[in-house]
Amino acid sequence: MSRGAQKQIFKTRQLPNPNEYVQALLGEFSAWAYDEEKILEFKGKWRQEFQVLPETPLDLEIGTGNGFHFAWRAGQYPDRILIGLELKYKPLIQSIRRALRSDCKNARMGRYNAVLVKDLFVPGELNDIYIHHPDPWAKTSQNKHRLIQPEFLKNIFELQKSGSIVEFKTDSEDYFDWALPFFEKSPYHVIGWTRDLHHSEFAATNFVTQFESLFLRKGQPIYYAKLLKQ
Ligand SMILES: C[S@@+](CC[C@H](N)C(=O)[O-])C[C@H]1O[C@@H](n2cnc3c(N)ncnc32)[C@H](O)[C@@H]1O
Repeated sequence: MSRGAQKQIFKTRQLPNPNEYVQALLGEFSAWAYDEEKILEFKGKWRQEFQVLPETPLDLEIGTGNGFHFAWRAGQYPDRILIGLELKYKPLIQSIRRALRSDCKNARMGRYNAVLVKDLFVPGELNDIYIHHPDPWAKTSQNKHRLIQPEFLKNIFELQKSGSIVEFKTDSEDYFDWALPFFEKSPYHVIGWTRDLHHSEFAATNFVTQFESLFLRKGQPIYYAKLLKQ
């Protein structure tokens, strides 16, 4: 499959046999979670959608999985807006359901390929970005599918306000070794990084995600980097 084709995703509304999660996205949760067509309406207008002041921080989590971190962060920071992106329907619905059960009105989920994040936000619209345990694409021939690429970093840098951070963590040493040189060559300032998050200065403020807990149980280290748009 070509890179261009890989980036495209099929339209939710055209699915011939929508499963329970697709139905939930188009029905019960449609005010809180958007398909890949609806989410395009909010570019440059997210704060209006939430009816908040223009200075309200707007954060993004990429690949929320089952939404443990997404719901926790939305609940912990009610004065910030949190958008989550997912490709898959089940984790998308798990994430928004978990946030709403915690009574979070400051969170929305969208089905979208994060590689194309420029479709969703205008320059300077975003504050902090969280990328936790992105798919590792472990074989060398698959590395080109990894989210962290120079172009992706340039794109998210443009979309963020000055003073915002990117938090990246992974259980894959290979992915970390791949990503760190890109971080260092990117327009970001690398505030810090570690090959063992849970025995580092960053441990105290860390939230353990679902994937992270799986690797911690096996005694494996978590690799972490924090970037700043100065
Ligand atoms: C390995 S899981 C990690 C989930 C969660 N962040 C955690 O730490 O438990 C990666 C998630 O990212 C989603 N994902 C992968 N590629 C994506 C992309 N290009 N855009 C949006 N979501 C993506 C997958 O569907 C999956 O749910």
